[in-house]
Amino acid sequence: MPQATPDVSDLRARLDSIGQGHLLRFVDELTDDQRSGLLAQIAGLDLEKLPALIGAYVTSKPDLAPTGDLAPAPLYAADGTVGGGGTWDRAEAYAAGEAIIKAGKVACFTVAGGQGSRLGIDGPKGKYPGGAVTGAPLFKIFADGVLASRKRFGADIPWYIMTSPINHDETVAFFEEHAYFGLPKNDVIFFSQGVMPSFGMRSGKVLLSDQHTVATNPDGHGGSLKALYTSGAIDDMKKRGIEQISYFQVDNPLVRAVDPVFIGLHTTAPHSSGQMSTKVVRKTDPEEKVGVLALAGGKMTAIEYSDLPEDLANELAPDDTLAYSAGNIAIHAISVAFVEQLNTSAGGFALPFHRAEKKIPCLDPASGEPVDPVEPNGIKLETFVFDAIPLAERSLVLETLRVEEFAPIKNAQGNDSPESSRMLQTERAARWLRACGVKVPLRKDGAPDCTLEITPLTALDPEDLKHAQLPEKIEPGAKMAF
Ligand code: UD1
Repeated sequence: MPQATPDVSDLRARLDSIGQGHLLRFVDELTDDQRSGLLAQIAGLDLEKLPALIGAYVTSKPDLAPTGDLAPAPLYAADGTVGGGGTWDRAEAYAAGEAIIKAGKVACFTVAGGQGSRLGIDGPKGKYPGGAVTGAPLFKIFADGVLASRKRFGADIPWYIMTSPINHDETVAFFEEHAYFGLPKNDVIFFSQGVMPSFGMRSGKVLLSDQHTVATNPDGHGGSLKALYTSGAIDDMKKRGIEQISYFQVDNPLVRAVDPVFIGLHTTAPHSSGQMSTKVVRKTDPEEKVGVLALAGGKMTAIEYSDLPEDLANELAPDDTLAYSAGNIAIHAISVAFVEQLNTSAGGFALPFHRAEKKIPCLDPASGEPVDPVEPNGIKLETFVFDAIPLAERSLVLETLRVEEFAPIKNAQGNDSPESSRMLQTERAARWLRACGVKVPLRKDGAPDCTLEITPLTALDPEDLKHAQLPEKIEPGAKMAF
């Protein structure tokens, strides 16, 4: 049913009472369509909660430093030991995960609603040519991972993709254009996340991007926990018999779309309640921009890099490695039941907002003139998915090797760039090829003297490569995709 256009005088009174009356400043100059669009957008804001939100997060900076006694997170380490004592068995974990995946109980889920602004691209980041040799778009690389996993486990693994209003249509069109990269259309499900209004940094006023549009930003990947539920994706999963979600970001071409070892530990290990688990890599440099997993007041918690106090970031363990080294690579296993429980709990659930100071083109709230800022002038508020970790009863942290699973593309240059990702993709492929007896040329610094890419369709792990046609050796400077 079409929504009735909200009443202007009623909205004006509500806005005036919270100091946001400027939002209707141009309402008499708008066309009917613009006017009803603006009124609907304003009515959709949680107006009564705005003053408290602005006071807590916009006009003051909340202290998000972790509270309670902090301790490094006990890990299910890559060497098979368990922090705090004990061991875990990879083959057993694989078998447990494999059984659940084969039974069709696991879905893949990619959060792809972000703006890709650091990489300097317009449009969905998943379109970015991330393949080291082929230049395959990131979405195709993930689709290949899902396809290969469907084949290996003989299961209809559906793939959910969260977009945002800024890139939804373009994302869906990209998949249409590429015939869903060979996946059944019904098994690729898109839904959009919510948005938050953007605010003036000093004024705390909600910004207008033009006379009839409230400036908004996607509400962060934490919004996925709500959007999974409100979009109907969780219902859809339940209908399909899905119990666990393999969550990953749009920026990491080395991710395993679904990892039986991780799913197996998440669902069976004593340190996990099967609600939300996380994969980490060892952080080698205190400055690295990855969040860390740690115990805060005894609860597993993710601390964003910007919120980790400097002395803790630099603290050393007795073996001289970083004490807080469990670097969050944003790969989670999350149960459908957990997402449902969060959304249906009495009083609802709320993740804390994180504030980012940004340059936001807008109309000046005081003068109504357009502003194209050169310095940050606005605040975007987002929630982070990893803030749900402490809401789980027990949360497991699995260490994986960086070279095996983490080559993100975030920045145009330097760390986490297309170039560093190419090198890591090559490094992993070189490891796998060497394990099959292929000679890989090395530079003086020990890095492969070539560029290599292995698509998940050829191999999900080194074992699969043994069945592929491989050369005896790779020539220096070669670019080869397998
Ligand atoms: C993120 C994590 C960091 C982690 C690192 C690993 C945050 C805040 N930090 O950093 O702890 O160590 O990845 O690579 O996430 N997204 C949405 N909707 C949004 C915002 C983001 O879907 O509203 C998606 C993006 O499309 C992307 C992912 O979330 O897939 C990451 O977002 P980004 O803001 O780039 O986080 P990072 O700073 O890279």
